[in-house]
Amino acid sequence: MISAICMNPCFDKTVDVDSLKPGQVNRIKNVRLDLGGKGINVAVVAERLGLEVQCIGIMGKEGGVELSDMMDREHLRHTFMEIPGHVRTNTKIFSRDGQGVTELNEPGTTVTPEQLQEFITLMRDETRGSDMVVLTGSLPPGCPEGTYCELMKALDGKRVILDTEGKELELAAKGAHPFLIKPNLREMEATLGIELRTIRTIRDAALLFIRLGVEHAVVSMGEMGAMYVSADKTLFAPALRVETKSTVGAGDAMIGGMLLGYEKEKDMARAFRYGIAAGAASVMTEGTQLIVLSDFERLLEQVKIQEV
Ligand SMILES: Nc1ncnc2c1ncn2[C@@H]1O[C@H](COP(=O)(O)OP(=O)(O)OP(=O)(O)O)[C@@H](O)[C@H]1O
Ligand SMILES: [Mg+2]
Repeated sequence: MISAICMNPCFDKTVDVDSLKPGQVNRIKNVRLDLGGKGINVAVVAERLGLEVQCIGIMGKEGGVELSDMMDREHLRHTFMEIPGHVRTNTKIFSRDGQGVTELNEPGTTVTPEQLQEFITLMRDETRGSDMVVLTGSLPPGCPEGTYCELMKALDGKRVILDTEGKELELAAKGAHPFLIKPNLREMEATLGIELRTIRTIRDAALLFIRLGVEHAVVSMGEMGAMYVSADKTLFAPALRVETKSTVGAGDAMIGGMLLGYEKEKDMARAFRYGIAAGAASVMTEGTQLIVLSDFERLLEQVKIQEV
């Protein structure tokens, strides 16, 4: 059983307007409400790829029933601790005139130190039967710096896939040795405070984390592909050429793919190709639809891995 942790779930609301006009009345042409939050996305992808997965998290009471219903409809096993407050909504405004997407993201409900401790106990209990735990997504307000590191320490020895950036990534890499990290290139640059322009500098940056105690690092680079780095191996895979509908959640799908790859191959370097296929399959779907299994299976055959 795989556990995906989602401490700050959300509704993803997508609205279409003809042309977004700031400071004026904008009439909405179409509205969609989807399940959101990176931990939930990873779990949904893993579930669609056929893995046994559960989602554990925290949610505000208001909107909690709707969120749970949406997870049920995805056939997702879930255990969420309820706290006073509401489930946040992240709004994406699609302007049909080609202006692009404007995002309005709520911070989420504040978690108190007592609630955080209560959640850590719940997480520890609920992950007893899991050998792999995914920690991803923004932390809700109220969580102190180093919360992901603390969560990992509570998970004591389990394999953890950590998808975060900045101080959270640095502290967890140093203090709790993730099994796999998956920053995208921008996150890697922001965490280290340097520009990474060449394959060599990206590998060196990933190796800094390997030296801190991370076992495997995958640096994703959107349509440029991704790099896999461990102490003794560096791989590069160009992205697959697919028709792009939406790149939202490609990294989450990539993690879902690598979870399947690891389950099948028992080797992260060999699981990398599954991540590339899942990332590409996810951009072929509209908005928040995440992934279609048959796309993934077809693309898996096409992945080309190069040794660096
Ligand atoms: N346009 C694309 N065409 C083909 N493959 C893509 C495309 N965009 C992303 N991918 C694949 O998905 C992987 C992950 O994408 P990306 O680097 O955008 O993740 P991310 O920034 O973490 O995304 P998010 O956090 O929004 O889920 C890439 O390494 C690549 O293999
Ligand atoms: Mg990401």
